[in-house]
Amino acid sequence: MSRELSHEIDELIQVFKAEVEQVQSQQQHRGLKEKYFSRRKGICPLLMQRLRDIPPKEKAEAGRLINRFKQMVEQSLDEVFTRLEPDRRKPGIDWTLPPVSHAPGAPHLIERTRTELEDIFIQMGYEVAEGPEMESEYNNFTALNIPAHHPARDEQDTFFIQDIDDMVLRTHTSPVQIRYMKSKQPPFKAIFPGKVFRKDEPDATHTPVFHQIEGLLVDREINFSHLRGILEAFIRAFFGEDIKTRFRPGYFPFTEPSAEIDISCFLCFGQDAECRICKGTGWLEILGSGMVHPGVLMNCGIDPDLFSGFAFGMGVDRIALLRHGVPDLRMFFENDLRFLRQFR
Ligand code: DAH
Repeated sequence: MSRELSHEIDELIQVFKAEVEQVQSQQQHRGLKEKYFSRRKGICPLLMQRLRDIPPKEKAEAGRLINRFKQMVEQSLDEVFTRLEPDRRKPGIDWTLPPVSHAPGAPHLIERTRTELEDIFIQMGYEVAEGPEMESEYNNFTALNIPAHHPARDEQDTFFIQDIDDMVLRTHTSPVQIRYMKSKQPPFKAIFPGKVFRKDEPDATHTPVFHQIEGLLVDREINFSHLRGILEAFIRAFFGEDIKTRFRPGYFPFTEPSAEIDISCFLCFGQDAECRICKGTGWLEILGSGMVHPGVLMNCGIDPDLFSGFAFGMGVDRIALLRHGVPDLRMFFENDLRFLRQFR
């Protein structure tokens, strides 16, 4: 009889071990405890009852077996209970609440466009340099062939700095050309990104603060075909291989000759007379450029008989606006998240 019981208990041990391993919650723990210890139907009390029918000689041995089993079950259940306890001790955490989401930030579309434009020139070996937003009238105008009464000063309604003579908020990034050329010996090629300021009344295509990227390359025997080759390569890299370019004669006091560069409309390809981007012309103006004026080179201590170069300037905001079909420039600066989130 005792051998039979011992066998049965061995089996019970196996079953219990498998069961106790599965316990993950206090509820399961309670269920298992009941199965083994509930007063009337629990496995341990039932085993104890069977002692009555066991012959006296074997009683002591059987009792020991059952007790050992009972202790083992009790101890395992206690251990499991302590393992589960931490979740009882942290009443502050309610695992049933919905998760708190953290929306990650993202660079503004203007910032992203600027980096993308910069990267193309960086890949072509251009250095990136910056100049101050508050600039001398000399660098912003005079050194760039725009003398005090030159009509070009009227085009750019300027913010003058009160109480500081001859200082302005730069109206373009071109003065960085002057600073850069004065500090270096050619050959060099660099781009100058940054904020510029004009006293424009805000409307769909004007804001008093906007962003430009200026470019400059100076070396021996640089001519207009270099300018054209580089800028066409840049335009293809940014707008795609199928884009056509058009060079129109232009005027800037600091370049001679000067050209304005248009690209074919990437929305309608000139096919839609009412295109919202090109207004039916088929062309979009995106760059001003030209061969650096010999006078400007001289202002910076560079001999125009030995060196020549080209320069260009573009509006980052305008390019972002055209590329994404944004109807109003002011939207970039209003910080309406519904607008900004579209460009994450
Ligand atoms: N500074 C000019 C502007 O703000 C843009 C520009 C035109 C820059 C021609 C250049 C250039 O370097 O060569 O309108």
